[in-house]
Amino acid sequence: MDLKKYLLEKKLQVEAGLEKYMLQPDGLLARHIESMRYSLFAGGKRIRPVLCLAVSEALHVDPAPCLSLACSLECIHTYSLIHDDLPAMDNDDLRRGKPTNHKVYGEAEAILAGDGLLTFAFELLSSPTLQGNLTPDERLKIIHIISRAVGSRGMVGGQALDIDSEGKSIPYETLQYLHSCKTGALITAAVQTGAIIGHAAHSQFEALTSYGNQIGLAFQIVDDLLNVEGTTEQLGKAAGSDAELEKATYPAIFGLEKTHEMAREAVDGAIESLQEFDHHAEPLRELARYIYYRKN
Ligand code: IPE
Ligand code: IPE
Ligand code: MG
Ligand code: MG
Repeated sequence: MDLKKYLLEKKLQVEAGLEKYMLQPDGLLARHIESMRYSLFAGGKRIRPVLCLAVSEALHVDPAPCLSLACSLECIHTYSLIHDDLPAMDNDDLRRGKPTNHKVYGEAEAILAGDGLLTFAFELLSSPTLQGNLTPDERLKIIHIISRAVGSRGMVGGQALDIDSEGKSIPYETLQYLHSCKTGALITAAVQTGAIIGHAAHSQFEALTSYGNQIGLAFQIVDDLLNVEGTTEQLGKAAGSDAELEKATYPAIFGLEKTHEMAREAVDGAIESLQEFDHHAEPLRELARYIYYRKN
C-alpha cells in the first residue's frame, strides 16, 4: 500500500474535522482562540487521530461519524506540546517549524491555550458531535480511557517524571515507564478508542492494546533518536536539546546503535500483535514501520 498517500488523505480528513469543530476567533475571546488555533493548525503529523481512524477501519467499521473523537486526540496532543515548550518545562522556541505559542502570545496565554484545548477535547467527546453507533457505555468508556491516559497515571505523570529526571541517571525500568507514560499513553488511548468505535471483540481489543503500547514506546524512542540525529530544520523543533537539558533518554543510556535496535524491536512486536487481523490492518502495520523510519 501507499502509506504516504494514505497519511495525506487521513490528515486532510482530520484537518477538515478540526476546522469544523474548533472555535472561531471572534468577540472578546478572539486572542485566546487565535492562540489555540495558532498551535493546532501549525502543521503536525496528526498521527494520533490517524491511528484512531485506522484502527476502526482495520475492524471494518467506517470511522467518519466519530471524526470528533479523532479531533479531540489532536487537541489534547497540541495542548501537551504548548505546555511542554514553556520556559518552566523544556523552554523551546520552535515547534512545528514556527515560534512556540508562548513566544507569540506570552506565557500566560500559552498556559491558557493549553488549558482551553484540553478542556475542549472533553467537550467534543461528551457532545452529540460524537456520532456513530455507540452505546452510552461505549461513550463513557472512551472518555474514561482518554482521561486516564492523559492524567497523572499517564501523560501528565510522564511529564512530571521527565522534569524530575533532568540531570539524573535513572534506572532503565523508570525510563521505560516515563516514555510509556509521557508519549505512549495517549497513543495507546488513540488505538483503544479506535477499537471501541470499531466494536472490537475482547481478543481484538487486547491485541490492539499491545500494538498501541509498543508503537507508543517506539514513538518516543525515535523522538529521542531524532533529537540526536536530526536537524532543527528537518524536525521543525530544536535538535540537540535533550543533551543540553540532560534529559533522560534512550540514547543517553544505551547509545545510538542499541537504541535503534530497541526501537525496531518495539515496532516488530507491535506488528506481531496484529497477527489475527486481515489486510484491512495493513495501514496499521505500515504506520508502525513509519514510526521507526520517519524523519520528523
Ligand atoms: C512530538 O509529537 C511530541 C511527542 C510526544 C514525542 P509528534 O512527533 O507527533 O509531533 P507533531 O504533532 O507531528 O508536531
Ligand atoms: C513530549 O516529549 C511529550 C509530551 C508533550 C507529552 P518531548 O519533550 O521529548 O518531545 P519534543 O521533542 O519536545 O517534541
Ligand atoms: Mg518534554
Ligand atoms: Mg520537549
